[in-house]
Amino acid sequence: MRKRLLASAAAVAAFGLLPALSATPAGAANAGPGAPGIGDPYYPTYGNGGYDVSHYDLRLSYQPATDTLSGTTTLTARATQGLTSFDLDFALPVSRVTVDGRPAAFAASGEQELVVTPARTIPRGRTLTVAVTYSGVPSSVQRYGFTSWMRTPDGGVAANEPESAWWWFPSNDHPADKATYDVDVKVPQGDQAISNGLLLSQSTRGGWTDFHWRQERPQATYLATLAVGHFDFTHARSAGGVPVLNAYSPDLDPATAANARASVERTGEIVDFLSGYFGPYPFDSAGGYVPNVTAGFALETQTRVFYSPKFFTKGPNTSVVAHELAHQWYGDSVSLERWSDIWLNEGFAGYAEWLWAEHEHTGTPQELARAVYDAHPASDPFWTVKPGDPGAANQFDDAVYDRGALAIQALRDTIGDHAFLALLRAWPTQHRYGNGTIAEFEALAERLSGKDLGAFFTTWLYTTAKPATFPGA
Ligand code: ARG
Ligand code: ZN
Repeated sequence: MRKRLLASAAAVAAFGLLPALSATPAGAANAGPGAPGIGDPYYPTYGNGGYDVSHYDLRLSYQPATDTLSGTTTLTARATQGLTSFDLDFALPVSRVTVDGRPAAFAASGEQELVVTPARTIPRGRTLTVAVTYSGVPSSVQRYGFTSWMRTPDGGVAANEPESAWWWFPSNDHPADKATYDVDVKVPQGDQAISNGLLLSQSTRGGWTDFHWRQERPQATYLATLAVGHFDFTHARSAGGVPVLNAYSPDLDPATAANARASVERTGEIVDFLSGYFGPYPFDSAGGYVPNVTAGFALETQTRVFYSPKFFTKGPNTSVVAHELAHQWYGDSVSLERWSDIWLNEGFAGYAEWLWAEHEHTGTPQELARAVYDAHPASDPFWTVKPGDPGAANQFDDAVYDRGALAIQALRDTIGDHAFLALLRAWPTQHRYGNGTIAEFEALAERLSGKDLGAFFTTWLYTTAKPATFPGA
């Protein structure tokens, strides 16, 4: 599902590759190859042009002993141009592709492109069904020098940003094209498979257990997750009525495991707290999982947050839980249109940590913002990263998080609590299940505050220098 086209780069590329005229069915005039990228300024080859996915249906099996992932993913999509061929983003070895049930030619290209050439040209506007059958060892497949599939002693986990889908399902891999998901994964009896949304069914036959997960709300590809291995599940419901499903590896060291539970089991409470600022929780399930990995990050995988145990080695940590749950509104329900707007995700998740700190009496947003401002002298390279356009290499730089959250407190001090609190709630309400840009956020802030904020945004998001004054000072 795509609300609007990104930059016209994708369209331009597609037209530039128009083939010589050939016999084409009615409605397929001007058909050509879909662009190999969706038009993202930071990642020109990520996502693809020419079609728009509405649903992913994954039917997979995973064997932990050999780290082998096999099966078929079927995409339902609509052609946004006449297509003689189109790309998917994928990295595992493919054995068969069909388009509308007919075998299609396919070839790997570049780092993660799978070029599909259907037997017949697809007219613009047509709904198409693309089935890709594959089998591979995801931990052994490197792209750009890395793999986003984390091997664990008893299985594997797919979680990374912005690239994680390539190692487990073919997709239009960009948050501008969100879709719903069925994820049906068979694992050896005794193992569990975790994914997003609701667990619709779990059944065991012939030594294999089939876990069927469904995400009924639009979801960006990088927010889809899969974890296989041993997990202990917990089920609860928040006071506000949100169902919570968490999962923990039983193999974490006991202190880390206890800290993880003490933190992640507060998911329902924190969801309800954040709902007070951002509006009703947007999904039908909430929760997280803590697998036996050594990663240094957490990820706001939709409804089912990925937490590295690293966050819980020193004690309970509800900051990270508040951060990832805030992303369910800022990032997941309302997703980026382009990766350069990452501040809309990380600035707000960082600010939510400060709101939660206030609730926990460990500091106010004003104090915590002031501490960031004071901690970095004007000469600190910290100020050379623009939170509103940090560059692909600095997408997850501290400045995006800390200077980004500081900018939000500065905005609060500039427009006042009344307009600010209305804005915090209006943005995820108005763009629910869709996408948004910083420019649209700025326009909403101006509308709600009645103030021209052009100079404010330039200073706080788009200047490579420390702002001269802190508004709340
Ligand atoms: N969005 C994640 C967070 O909540 C950032 C993860 C980035 N790190 C990574 N290794 N992909 O902060
Ligand atoms: Zn984050």
